[in-house]
Amino acid sequence: MRRIGVIGAGSMGAAIAALAASAGLDVILLDVKGQDDPAGPARRGLQRAVQQRAFLNPSAIDRVQVGNVEDNLAWLTECDWVLEAIVENRDTKRDLFRRLDAVLPPGTIVTTNTSTFTLEQLLPKELGAWRERFFVTHFFNPPRALLLCEVTAFPEGETVRFATFVRFLEQRLGRRVLLVRDTPGFIANRFGIYSLVHAIRLTGEFGLSPEEVDALTGPVLGRPRSATFRTIDLTGLDILVLGARSLQESTGDDYAVPDWILELYQRGRLGDKTGGGIYRREGEQQLTYDPAQRTDRPFRAAAIPGLEELLRQPFPRRLLGALELPSPYGDYLRHLLGRTFGYVLQRTTDAARDIASVDRALEWGFGWVMGPYAQMDFLGLQRVRALLAEAGIPASELLTLAEQRGGFFLNGQVLDPGSGELVGEERLSSTRRTWQIRIRETLEREGLRDLGDGVLALRVRLLESLPRSLEEALARWPSALVLVPAFDSLGYSYGELFQLAESGEQAVLEERLRAVHAALQAVATVPVPVVAALDGEARGAATTLALWSDATVAYLTTPLGYPGVAAGLVPLGALVALRVRSEARTSTLPTPLRAELGTASALTILLLAERIDSAHLAGTLGLLGDRWLVTIDRDGLLETAANLARVLAHGVPVRPLASREAFAEVSQMTTPSLAALDPTTQSVVEVLARALRSAGTLEELLQAERAAVVELLSQTELRRKAVATLQALSAPRR
Ligand code: NAI
Repeated sequence: MRRIGVIGAGSMGAAIAALAASAGLDVILLDVKGQDDPAGPARRGLQRAVQQRAFLNPSAIDRVQVGNVEDNLAWLTECDWVLEAIVENRDTKRDLFRRLDAVLPPGTIVTTNTSTFTLEQLLPKELGAWRERFFVTHFFNPPRALLLCEVTAFPEGETVRFATFVRFLEQRLGRRVLLVRDTPGFIANRFGIYSLVHAIRLTGEFGLSPEEVDALTGPVLGRPRSATFRTIDLTGLDILVLGARSLQESTGDDYAVPDWILELYQRGRLGDKTGGGIYRREGEQQLTYDPAQRTDRPFRAAAIPGLEELLRQPFPRRLLGALELPSPYGDYLRHLLGRTFGYVLQRTTDAARDIASVDRALEWGFGWVMGPYAQMDFLGLQRVRALLAEAGIPASELLTLAEQRGGFFLNGQVLDPGSGELVGEERLSSTRRTWQIRIRETLEREGLRDLGDGVLALRVRLLESLPRSLEEALARWPSALVLVPAFDSLGYSYGELFQLAESGEQAVLEERLRAVHAALQAVATVPVPVVAALDGEARGAATTLALWSDATVAYLTTPLGYPGVAAGLVPLGALVALRVRSEARTSTLPTPLRAELGTASALTILLLAERIDSAHLAGTLGLLGDRWLVTIDRDGLLETAANLARVLAHGVPVRPLASREAFAEVSQMTTPSLAALDPTTQSVVEVLARALRSAGTLEELLQAERAAVVELLSQTELRRKAVATLQALSAPRR
């Protein structure tokens, strides 16, 4: 895949275009033709995507070329994949496919982002040849945060090419792909919208208020905070009403939305995008639409006895208590779960290839903490049977099967509805991702995780404890290590360092600085390859850890770099690493020149690295070491790091930071741009440059760096500035 086409620059199309461009693909984005500016609609869609931060890499906007479907359809002949994301209207989509057929070469993959139609419904009869190349790729909104992508093909299309395409969606676009059946709504919307619709319907049946329903259907049920009505206001009543209507028509199942919601929809009160839906703000006043009175009234926070206590319990344990809440709250929840479980049990074989996919779809697409099948296992099947009976829903065969086998999931096995047997989870399409996510969770919990083939992953929470952790890990004879930093603040304990400097505890201060260097040196001298895996916050010591490792794998939007350097927050170990790496790259130059270049480049990079939101930029600047890889596949980050570590384990180590080679003395030289810096920065740079230039061996370099830091810390005025900067940095970021 080099170039892709996206048709429809609405909320989904533009965001998918932004994702693909961020992944390094060239993108053609077409919409309808504009009157004054023919590419106007697509251009405006792209602008909205920028505002909504859909670009994981902001500079990737240059990779998107905008146009319109009347004049520029021929551009798509150059594309490997064309994705359709225009309005959810069957005839409009079919017309477009016919027009595409006239221009596209037979090999181009075409996919639709439809949420409610099937491939069978969308493909015009005369396009029979498309059956091999026409797939569903159902992304979720916003793709930056919701990683699920439901994918399906015609039976004729399930070829090697399809498998390759699925792998591409996972590896390059970072999607959590679920292979689904070609049925309306696929899995997530089919069950998610059903549960949402019934959460609304039961509101009236049990005489609850929207606030009460939102209090009951959020974290209590392991669902997002926006629960039911806030979610609808966020995504839009139109999406709900049209989606439910379409699902009702195509499945014949009960997706009927209550009258009062239809009324709001018809009045154009569609939610946040129209200035309010169920909830609305009028000046200072927060209003709620009252379904019984059919009018707005002041917002009334829910007061449900026992709810606070319940929320203090972990999920799913709190589910048990929730079902016992006093009437009508417990009754409401039992009916909601009864209906949801009943429908899931009845329709799973329709929509999903296996029951694990149902759980994953609701977790990845609707943000449920735990899917319905795991919930049913937790509650116990007898309890589930009772819930169905109370809700007046006949128990399905699948429940009986599960009762016979002892559950839906059992010891790494899953109930297969087709054969009635338990099968190994590894045989399911959703397995790879699930596995990767579980590995990350165990590493988070346990701090150490075997990634296979002798590669060990280590969660690093404190730089100073790294030598001990490395020793423990090495006792297990690994072939390579993956370090995953998770530091508080910037990872350097600056606050304590400032205090030590303030109180004049010189010896302790020096001891602390030495411990940081010792930790970094321990990384550089580990006898097996070390790969740093950066995901999430990685500014400060985490960036330095990457600099001292043999290679780095980073999630594209990881914040990196060194904030506050100019104010005296000196990242210990970073300058030395940058200088030594730079010298190693210029080994053919005369030594004094190398040292001078190394010093100048290290200082320049450090000052440039105030704050970098794109790992790609950090890598280009040299902040990720000499071997680095940036990825959008966040779930696969550890596996990618492990793979890189495995490759490095076969090589002869090239480790400039472990060498003890002496560097000759260098002459004094002033950095030309120094005059342009403010006085504080100038003094910081001068002290650091002096220290770095004069030093020789690696040991001497580190010692000089420590001395420079001690000197800087001893300056009261600078310390004051640094403390203020640190405080500003620790303020919560948006
Ligand atoms: P939208 O209404 O935001 O955007 C649709 C875009 O398509 C508009 O810019 C419109 O000008 C353009 N368009 C309409 N007819 C066209 C044609 N014949 N040729 C070229 N462009 C045309 O819609 P949205 O929300 O982006 O949805 C697009 C598709 O994605 C739909 O099939 C929808 O069901 C699906 N979807 C939507 C999700 C959502 O949450 N919004 C989630 C997942 C799928």
